[in-house]
Amino acid sequence: MVARPLPIGILVSGRGSNMEAIADAVACGSVPARIQVVISDRPEARALELARRRGLKACCLEPRDYPSRQAYDQALAATLKKEGVELVVLAGFMRLLSQDFLDQFPDGVINIHPALLPAFPGLNAQRKAWEYGVKFSGCTVHFVDAGTDTGPIIAQAVVPVKDDDTPETLAARILVEEHRLYPEVIKWLAEGRVTMQGRRVKVKI
Ligand code: GRF
Repeated sequence: MVARPLPIGILVSGRGSNMEAIADAVACGSVPARIQVVISDRPEARALELARRRGLKACCLEPRDYPSRQAYDQALAATLKKEGVELVVLAGFMRLLSQDFLDQFPDGVINIHPALLPAFPGLNAQRKAWEYGVKFSGCTVHFVDAGTDTGPIIAQAVVPVKDDDTPETLAARILVEEHRLYPEVIKWLAEGRVTMQGRRVKVKI
């Protein structure tokens, strides 16, 4: 039996390379999902332009058009619901989502972070890891909760930190793994292979 493609919405704020990796994987049939909509909080985000060029439905919801964070999150959730989205994929989306928003998509919001959580949460994770002097870093895909990069971990990929790395070369090596791992996790979720016990996530391979 062929499973129904999982309807996903991708939230972006910037460059859009993870959005592109996911869109490529969906387009070539390796991830059984359908991208219902791409939403940016920034009109100038390159990701919006890239999504439109691919013929994806894309729109911008600007926080300044809403009186409060609550009103913004409500509008965001309403747009995603209207498009039939069941899995919300954060791909470089630079805003924290409120508990009210998350309650509308139980276990249905995921994020990718460019470090091995719980180390180096927040901004500039690749630089923080490099400055700290860790010998391995990587990326983490996790369910989103109301904290900053604190939700249950679904999968991680490890990359070595080399002696001659700069924050930029390390970030580039991590990004290659992000583009591989994020579509893979969406595939697992679409195939119903992910379960959770407390905050321990298990994947049936
Ligand atoms: C990625 O490094 C991702 O891990 C982080 O934000 C960056 C987004 O890059 N959450 P892009 O917009 O997908 O190119």
